[in-house]
Amino acid sequence: MNVFIASSNEGKIKEIKAILADTSLNLSSVLDRGDLKDFDVEETGKTFQDNALLKAKAYAQLLKMPTIADDSGLEVQSLDGFPSVNSNRWFKGTASERNLALLDLLKNEGNRQARFYSVICFYDPNTKVAKFFEGEIKGKIPLEQRGSKIEGFGYDPIFIPEGFEKSFAELGTEFKNTISHRRKALLKLSQYVLQGKRLGQPE
Ligand code: IMP
Repeated sequence: MNVFIASSNEGKIKEIKAILADTSLNLSSVLDRGDLKDFDVEETGKTFQDNALLKAKAYAQLLKMPTIADDSGLEVQSLDGFPSVNSNRWFKGTASERNLALLDLLKNEGNRQARFYSVICFYDPNTKVAKFFEGEIKGKIPLEQRGSKIEGFGYDPIFIPEGFEKSFAELGTEFKNTISHRRKALLKLSQYVLQGKRLGQPE
């Protein structure tokens, strides 16, 4: 089955292709389609599921082919889950400035529990069937940014996964990708296909 990946993020596309390599899915992405580089989908949903579906559906309908999209973010327990679906939008500035702003919100907070959450949506425009696969990783927010590349990917310098002493940024992308929320969601999708279940069909 030919499946499109609704992302132009090279890291994410690599991760998705690597995890789904054992499946029979033939994957292409925005990076293979120069004509789509300015196509944008507004993430107006209230949940990660809503936004993953919005993105998958928009590309699927445009290209008339089954599409995978992901939506993810950070949820901080003592802030009632904030920034959640707004992880990418609540602050204008660099990732490092945004991390400092979040640390500031937690300045006098003892409860540092947080989680990364990811939803992968598969949408088939022919059958109109949508399937969702989710993954989470629990952890805590340190008192300051940690990791040499503090301009690195998103919230990685301020997230220490459970069972580790180092932040995602300190652990490095390669290792992080073996335990991440997105990895867990993608593995569920891969297992679904490898079990012989048909993605675009109703259960
Ligand atoms: P999106 O799913 O690509 O829209 O990402 C949503 C937001 O969550 C972005 O601001 C990312 O920086 C952040 N985010 C999602 N996954 C991760 C991660 O694995 N590490 C760091 N930040 C992440």
